[in-house]
Amino acid sequence: MRHCAKSCAALPTTVASACFSLTHRALKAATNIVPRLRRIEIALAGPAQLGISFLSTMRAKQLGRTGVSIPEIGLGTWNYHGGANPLRKGIAAGANFIDTAESYGTEAVVGEAIRGISERVFIATKVSPQNFHSSDFRKSVEASLRNLGTETIDLLQLHHPNPAIPIEETMGAMSDLVDQGKIKFCGVSNFSVAQLQAAQKALGKYPIVSNQLRYNVIDRTIEKDILPYCEANGITVIAYSPLSKDLSRITDCDPTGVIAEIARATGKTPAQVVINWCICQQNVVAIPKANSAAHILENCGASGWRLSNDQIALMNSRIQSRHRNKFDALARKLMPPSLQKIAVRARNLLPRRLRRLVS
Ligand SMILES: NC(=O)c1ccc[n+]([C@@H]2O[C@H](COP(=O)([O-])OP(=O)(O)OC[C@H]3O[C@@H](n4cnc5c(N)ncnc54)[C@H](OP(=O)(O)O)[C@@H]3O)[C@@H](O)[C@H]2O)c1
Repeated sequence: MRHCAKSCAALPTTVASACFSLTHRALKAATNIVPRLRRIEIALAGPAQLGISFLSTMRAKQLGRTGVSIPEIGLGTWNYHGGANPLRKGIAAGANFIDTAESYGTEAVVGEAIRGISERVFIATKVSPQNFHSSDFRKSVEASLRNLGTETIDLLQLHHPNPAIPIEETMGAMSDLVDQGKIKFCGVSNFSVAQLQAAQKALGKYPIVSNQLRYNVIDRTIEKDILPYCEANGITVIAYSPLSKDLSRITDCDPTGVIAEIARATGKTPAQVVINWCICQQNVVAIPKANSAAHILENCGASGWRLSNDQIALMNSRIQSRHRNKFDALARKLMPPSLQKIAVRARNLLPRRLRRLVS
């Protein structure tokens, strides 16, 4: 992504993946005809083997205030089991931004997917909180670089805050790795406003360019303070779980079927409508995860168009959303994964009206 990112920066809402091999002038021409190409966006998603992805309708947004653009839809890889091919198809369709983490066990498959094309893909990974002491941090990054098969990580994120390790130590290690060229940009994930401010102070000379946070049409917790803070301070919000981990959880909270109504009116799918809702926010990009090429390409089609203000207002008023409080957050954090699975299964046995209350 390094070279193309620079030329994309001059065209903030243009076709990120087209930068792969089109010249700047050809890219401008492509941008002008993009609206006419909406219907064939998926049909054009094939030429990955040629190393090109032209005329995708994927739009780009600036990462923080870096002047570098990334696609507004990236590929999430937590619990990803689809192999390298679906990811390559997503890259070819314009989603040349992949999110992984040392804890996901998917860095190697991401490395496989970007082999030979890594210069054209923006790679984001994460260090786990137990590795925030400086020597562990460096070892984690070295392991991620080996797994990914790259010399640089485009965006390195702290996966969760870890109050047990001084943030100055962690950010010092991060800053050294930027100096050494092993990391290009610094980001965080699941950080509150206060945690973000402390991390930025500790990082000093480099900016924190992104905060990865849960955000979707039924979980709007971040709208209270961290989303506006990021917007005001030029920090990109990378929205995780934009489909709430399972689209049915979202449709459960849509008793009057407004998502299906808007999908019919726009000619898009419900998943595309829901993802588009997230990226309608100025500084938000989304990273849905899908195992199949079909879902990945469908999700890429959530870019290249916009819900109208009226449609957004309808979704806001008719979908039952929630703002999680600190107790919710703590309960989720403390609940062991095995218990979480049981809770999800139990929830799915409830009638729809009750499922909505515990989504
Ligand atoms: N920083 C963090 O703490 C954190 C936490 C959670 C997630 N994340 C990141 O965010 C990414 C996405 O979040 P997520 O994995 O939690 O959930 P998500 O993207 O909201 O939902 C994933 C689920 O939606 C399904 N799906 C995908 N596309 C679909 C479509 N077009 N139609 C219907 N269903 C579709 C997937 O099924 P199939 O796979 O079968 O297609 C999968 O079951 C993760 O992969 C990870 O990279 C970060």
